[in-house]
Amino acid sequence: MIIPNDNNRYKNMKYNRCGRSGLLLPAVSLGLWHNFGSADSFDNMVEMVETAFNLGITHFDLANNYGPVPGSAEENFGKILKTVLKDCRNEIVVSTKAGYKHWNGPYGDWGSRKYLLSSLDSSLKRLGLEYVDIFYSHRPDPDTPLEETMGALATAVKQGMALYAGISNYGPEQTETASKILKNLGVPCLIHQMKYNMFTRNLENGLIDVLEKEGIGKIAFSPLDQGILTDRYLHGIPKGSRADKGIGFLKPDRITGEIISKVKRLNEIAKARGQSMAQMALAWALKAGRLTSVLIGASSPKQIADNVKALDNSDFSDDKMALIDSILGDE
Ligand SMILES: NC(=O)c1ccc[n+]([C@@H]2O[C@H](COP(=O)([O-])OP(=O)(O)OC[C@H]3O[C@@H](n4cnc5c(N)ncnc54)[C@H](OP(=O)(O)O)[C@@H]3O)[C@@H](O)[C@H]2O)c1
Repeated sequence: MIIPNDNNRYKNMKYNRCGRSGLLLPAVSLGLWHNFGSADSFDNMVEMVETAFNLGITHFDLANNYGPVPGSAEENFGKILKTVLKDCRNEIVVSTKAGYKHWNGPYGDWGSRKYLLSSLDSSLKRLGLEYVDIFYSHRPDPDTPLEETMGALATAVKQGMALYAGISNYGPEQTETASKILKNLGVPCLIHQMKYNMFTRNLENGLIDVLEKEGIGKIAFSPLDQGILTDRYLHGIPKGSRADKGIGFLKPDRITGEIISKVKRLNEIAKARGQSMAQMALAWALKAGRLTSVLIGASSPKQIADNVKALDNSDFSDDKMALIDSILGDE
């Protein structure tokens, strides 16, 4: 059950300033990419959202194509907003995105003004909202001028369909250019959403410096590498896990002996820190990426509650960081 305006939920969460903006985001945010689609249990979705929000997770991340079927995650979250989260709109940050294929024909993909603004309009209808807090360009479009894509984000903000603009999966140079365009349009880029975890370190290849120079917040998706950086696959591929289900991007052939032997060694370090593997992976990402927030996914309320405890021990000595890097770098 959720009580609007309940101060208890804010006591144990850490809130970080998003870049040089006025917006604070929880150190742990919840993404609805998986397990919020039309074939998933609605009761489980409700319990996950209740658990998250009652633990201070105020930020829920969506995209026009989350499901399956595409759009169903927004519809389901819209139902939750109307019921369980009724009277809590001012306490939560909802984000959505457009940039991957969402409908057939020339206007349902990539980064045109036509696609972004009509997609946002449809997202708002599915969510039953007048505005989202953050609207993202989900990926850069090599064939649309960046000015047009950023112009669409700025229009969304100026028309009140979104409070802030964000970008996702942009490289360092594109990010710098996009940021300058948005600043000139009077709508600074709030946040960049990129994949970042112990195994995927692109953020460290120049992007982190651009983001800090431009005053843009950093939120990392798949911080648990879709579950690999947890105890989920230490003894094979369990039934019902993401790798087992065969939907989405985590294929069983990713769970190799080499990867799992690294995770087992990392898990020993986590145990010595009094943490689960998942908790250590999240604490590590927050520190190594100097992140605003880690954007987790979950299939149960218990996973969310476990993951929030990552914040109980988020310090790493330089030696421990080096030890973790040496395990990750081992062939
Ligand atoms: N911008 C983009 O292009 C982009 C791309 C991908 C994702 N995202 C965003 O990022 C969010 C998170 O991505 P993600 O779902 O890949 O994140 P993730 O946190 O790396 O992986 C989530 C999965 O890990 C497993 N898990 C989580 N906590 C666990 C725990 N304590 N113990 C054991 N297993 C645990 C669960 O898998 P099981 O289902 O097997 O239980 C869960 O579904 C998405 O929902 C979406 O909002 C954005």
